[in-house]
Amino acid sequence: MTSERNFRIGVLGSGKGSNFVAVADACHAGTVPGQVVVVLSDVAEAGILARAAERQIPGRFIPPGTFRTKLGEEAERAYIEALKNARVDLVVLAGFMRVLKEGLLEAFAGRIINIHPSLLPAFPGLEAWKQALAHGVKVTGCTVHFVDAGVDSGPIIGQQAVPVLDDDTPATLHQRIQVAEHELYPRCVAALARGAVRVEGRRVRV
Ligand code: GAR
Repeated sequence: MTSERNFRIGVLGSGKGSNFVAVADACHAGTVPGQVVVVLSDVAEAGILARAAERQIPGRFIPPGTFRTKLGEEAERAYIEALKNARVDLVVLAGFMRVLKEGLLEAFAGRIINIHPSLLPAFPGLEAWKQALAHGVKVTGCTVHFVDAGVDSGPIIGQQAVPVLDDDTPATLHQRIQVAEHELYPRCVAALARGAVRVEGRRVRV
């Protein structure tokens, strides 16, 4: 990778961008030794692009193509080019609601991470907090993991537990998980920026 101060982070997101804000603000505060240099979104009006603009971080909408759950070939090439042009060391998925395919995975092998709103391997896929409520678990949480070709299946870097309360609704539970996400994601990105993460097969030591 590169020296800590120059650790360059690219963020991909489709939604409101609260995890991007947590990581970018931690970089700004110096608790993550790196900087977010580009934000890319597959949703033109996504809040994450507005949050990037407020912070004077270059943000760009790149049309995803015609598929619903992945990027089209041309789009994938455009994402790779934008991330390469920005010379990113790490790609941080922050609510990017598309599955990545070989092109991106190979271009940034071992350098793409994601945050998921459950304690994986429980509840992969969409709206994991609703899955947790439907299953009746008493504890859920969030997971930061390396991205591989599966759905929410790569080696786990960090996890944080969150209680499920008897009167939780999907909204209150997701909100509590997000508070945990905003602590966990900057902590994991900081460890990667410091070069403090060792991957041994599926086991990641931080
Ligand atoms: C987060 O809760 C994140 O864990 C989830 O989307 C939300 C994005 O929020 N991601 C997934 O479900 C991916 N499978 P944000 O836009 O406020 O960061």
